[in-house]
Amino acid sequence: MAELNLPVTVCYLDESGARHIRKGVAFSPRGVLDILDQTRLPESVVRMSLSTPLEVFDAIKRLCVRGAPAIGCASAVGLAVCAARFEETDGTAFMERLRKTASFLKSSRPTAVNLMWAVDRCCAAVAGLARPADICQKLLDEALDIIEEDFRLCRRIGDFGAALLEDGMTVLTHCNAGALATCGMGTALAPVYRALEQGKRIRVYSDETRPLLQGARLTAWELAQAGVETYTICDNMAATVMRQGKVDMVIVGADRIAANGDTANKIGTFPLAVAAKYCGIPFYVAAPFSTIDRSLPDGTGIPIEERSSDEIFHCPGVKVYNPAFDVTPADLITAHITDSGVIRF
Ligand code: MRU
Repeated sequence: MAELNLPVTVCYLDESGARHIRKGVAFSPRGVLDILDQTRLPESVVRMSLSTPLEVFDAIKRLCVRGAPAIGCASAVGLAVCAARFEETDGTAFMERLRKTASFLKSSRPTAVNLMWAVDRCCAAVAGLARPADICQKLLDEALDIIEEDFRLCRRIGDFGAALLEDGMTVLTHCNAGALATCGMGTALAPVYRALEQGKRIRVYSDETRPLLQGARLTAWELAQAGVETYTICDNMAATVMRQGKVDMVIVGADRIAANGDTANKIGTFPLAVAAKYCGIPFYVAAPFSTIDRSLPDGTGIPIEERSSDEIFHCPGVKVYNPAFDVTPADLITAHITDSGVIRF
């Protein structure tokens, strides 16, 4: 079986410096959220310790931690370590501060629904509790549960997706929906990793993913760590590479999936789906259940993050439009690879 060398994206660091990704650790006012700083990859592998609402918010906003499931996990651990530092001793005041911190963290990025899902899940878990110490312990337990669950869900997505991959196939992917975007082996890249573990040889074309280069910096880096043959291509080469017959399947991740299957993912995903349809190549979206937002009937209601003009090269005096995500209509998606199977909406 192939040995995968995948990074630990998010964990809880206790005061002795031990890292935790499983429930069963006592909360401490000195515990911190520990993340791999993805803004520094691939040049440097540097970790960050975060313990205040502003630090956690800023790390999510600046994409030090990014990718829908990883943002969910980081916000959950972040909420727990922040709460463990609250001075309020009265249960009602403590809960009020928790609610404010939760909505502040949820406002860090608008598109990935896993962020709201994880924070709301942690708040719901402590709803019946009154003692601050009990609330803090439950918040940490729930956050580590979310991490553990994400690890399992990624593997299940990997198993369902790997069944679609035959030895020698080539996958094209966009942005980074791998281990760095989750607390497991990723979503879009999980089928590749599971296929590799099963002894299949899979090649990957990784779009560079303008403007922040998640594909060139992150996907290529983690695939290389795992020993997967990888080609980085510029975004504007993807359609040609598909038309040249070099790609058997496109697999991408998702930030939010509406009830009808319309899917928001990194800007540039929609044109890939159009090109794949034209070329007759299957186009899959891989995501856990926490990315599905059944409150939205279709993709028109998905909030799309617009980021700073500084991220795009531009001449002085010229305006910039920088949406970070686009929405791919369900009818361009062959199927969604989820933790409960390959489904068609
Ligand atoms: O802006 P990012 O880097 O957070 O965007 C990430 C993506 O678009 C991913 O494809 C998506 O979050 C799925 S991650 C498993």
